[in-house]
Amino acid sequence: MSLVERTARDVAALHAINEMRIPLLERIDLFARSSGDTTDLVEKQMYVVQRPSESAGEETMVLRPEGTPGVVRAYLDLGFGNSQEGQNYQRFFYSGPMLRYERPQKGRYREFWQFGVEIFGRTDPLVDAELILMIDELRVALNQRVKETKAFHIKPEFEIRLVTQLNSLGCADCRPAFRERLIEFGRSNFERLCVDCKRRLTRNPLRMLDCKIDASWIRSSDAPRSIDFLCQDCKLHHDSVKLFLDNAGVQYEENPWLVRGLDYYTRTVFEVVSNSVGSQNAVAAGGRYDGLVEALGGAAIPGVGFAVGVDRLVLAITDAINDYQQDRALQPEAPISQSKSWLGKLVRAIPPHAAIIGMGSAALLDSFLLAYELRAIGLRVDVMWGIKLRSSLRDAIGTEARFIIIIGQNEVDQKVVQLREMNNSILGEPEPVERSEIVQKLADKTSSE
Ligand code: HAM
Repeated sequence: MSLVERTARDVAALHAINEMRIPLLERIDLFARSSGDTTDLVEKQMYVVQRPSESAGEETMVLRPEGTPGVVRAYLDLGFGNSQEGQNYQRFFYSGPMLRYERPQKGRYREFWQFGVEIFGRTDPLVDAELILMIDELRVALNQRVKETKAFHIKPEFEIRLVTQLNSLGCADCRPAFRERLIEFGRSNFERLCVDCKRRLTRNPLRMLDCKIDASWIRSSDAPRSIDFLCQDCKLHHDSVKLFLDNAGVQYEENPWLVRGLDYYTRTVFEVVSNSVGSQNAVAAGGRYDGLVEALGGAAIPGVGFAVGVDRLVLAITDAINDYQQDRALQPEAPISQSKSWLGKLVRAIPPHAAIIGMGSAALLDSFLLAYELRAIGLRVDVMWGIKLRSSLRDAIGTEARFIIIIGQNEVDQKVVQLREMNNSILGEPEPVERSEIVQKLADKTSSE
């Protein structure tokens, strides 16, 4: 599991959000009815699953291009959100691959990983702000964890730089006036619109503001902006989201042109961008979707959520690690060469507390049993079959274990083990510890963790 996903799960736990597992296969109409049948996602990007001999009338299935509609469907299937009474307030996270037909490039893949959160049954702006705050907390936690990983050799001022962009698209009451003005604007600038925008002018005019061919002329012209059309309730909602963020010290930029590529959004929309992911710069995105549960057959239950693009966030972190590399001359001398694959380290499992090397056949059984005893007191342990001490030590250091325990034939005979402790990437000298005392010793050394 990547460092990003592991950290995102920790942040979700702090927000009392539980995991929901959603299927990879969904019926095609779920996405047409939610993401929007004029969106790129539905028109061009879905992978349709075809069976060798499809029987007539069988539902067409697709590989999920995003998680939100599947979570809403599951939420309804579980019996939530079918009436306005009862336990409609629910919060879930999901984590898994999404599939979209794309022209692959840096940060844009056909299969990519999302970590998403969806919250149902809350109309208040506090929860919109909570979600934006969560992404910021994820950034801060990742900053910390990357800094703590000594092997990266990064400067203390290391910073994953992300910018949150915020906008409000209004609601069913105020959006139509904005939409009308956009259509008028599109008509009077028809010749400048790209082929797609011309086609979408009356069906999905908001997408003009986000035109992939060239939106810059629209954004610098007097095109209408959604925030100028907000009704009183939407304006209050938007201002309150900003107030919460301001008070929590979360930085954001207002981007009146932010419209998002999916149709279900109402009111708050946001994107978190990094300038290091090439042109595909959004590492997370989300917003409120107060009409989606109803559109999919439930009661009028509001929803709000986001999805982090895990692959893109990993890219942003890797670039930041490159930017903040310490001068090689200042790096502590590592006794044995370490892996330089930062990407590899970012996707690593949680390091073990201890790596045990059993040298020779007699030591293997004792290593195996010691690992068992250490795991029984809650320590993560990796145990290795040592053939050559030097290469086994390199493997053990590579696990990033804090303790390396070596057991050879002599140690077995003398009922001791050799304990070596890693400190700032430096492997400490071997310390002989009685075999009968090693478990307690490691328990004491790790008790404050
Ligand atoms: P989205 O903007 O389509 O929104 O995707 C969210 C994030 O997934 C993007 O910001 C990006 O980081 C990542 N992503 C999207 N496409 C790709 C790709 N082809 N390759 C790599 N990464 C990609 C949604 O999916 C909504 N369901 C978010 C949401 C949740 N809104 C409310 N709740």
